[in-house]
Amino acid sequence: MNVVTLPDTNAFARYTLALSPVRTAPHLARQLAICALTGWGLQDLIDGVTLIVSELATNSALHAGELALSLFQDGGDLVIEMWDSSNEPPEQQDEDLGSLHGRGLVLVSAIARDWGWHPVRNGKITWARMKADPPPSRM
Ligand SMILES: Nc1ncnc2c1ncn2[C@@H]1O[C@H](COP(=O)(O)OP(=O)(O)OP(=O)(O)O)[C@@H](O)[C@H]1O
Ligand SMILES: [Mg+2]
Repeated sequence: MNVVTLPDTNAFARYTLALSPVRTAPHLARQLAICALTGWGLQDLIDGVTLIVSELATNSALHAGELALSLFQDGGDLVIEMWDSSNEPPEQQDEDLGSLHGRGLVLVSAIARDWGWHPVRNGKITWARMKADPPPSRM
């Protein structure tokens, strides 16, 4: 079952979506990201954030198991957190022109201001940060 936590209008609310590792998980994760960024007036980040969310959700669904996406703002950053139920670390691969795989985290690294992961009691969280300039205030 998918669980969506809808925030109130607080700009610093958190959007969270728990997903099973099914084929539609990356699509649903992207939809939450679009919804959150639109609500925050951060449409300029949609392309980059949806790409990152896609790669992290696909990794969790393929290489891990249950997953949950959280999006929130921290100071001037937009933070993407992907929890999954595996203790195995995400490992950015060296460029290998002869491989069809190993590109996802290279892309995340290129787009995000920073990314990383840390273990938690029931798995791990892979995170990425994007600079989020606030939308111009309406006078
Ligand atoms: N959430 C995760 N849980 C466990 N291992 C992971 C996770 N994410 C990534 N990894 C490991 O890190 C490696 C590199 O991930 P990356 O996304 O760069 O490449 P890929 O998933 O193998 O291929 P691609 O994303 O190009 O289709 C994976 O092959 C996997 O071994
Ligand atoms: Mg991948």
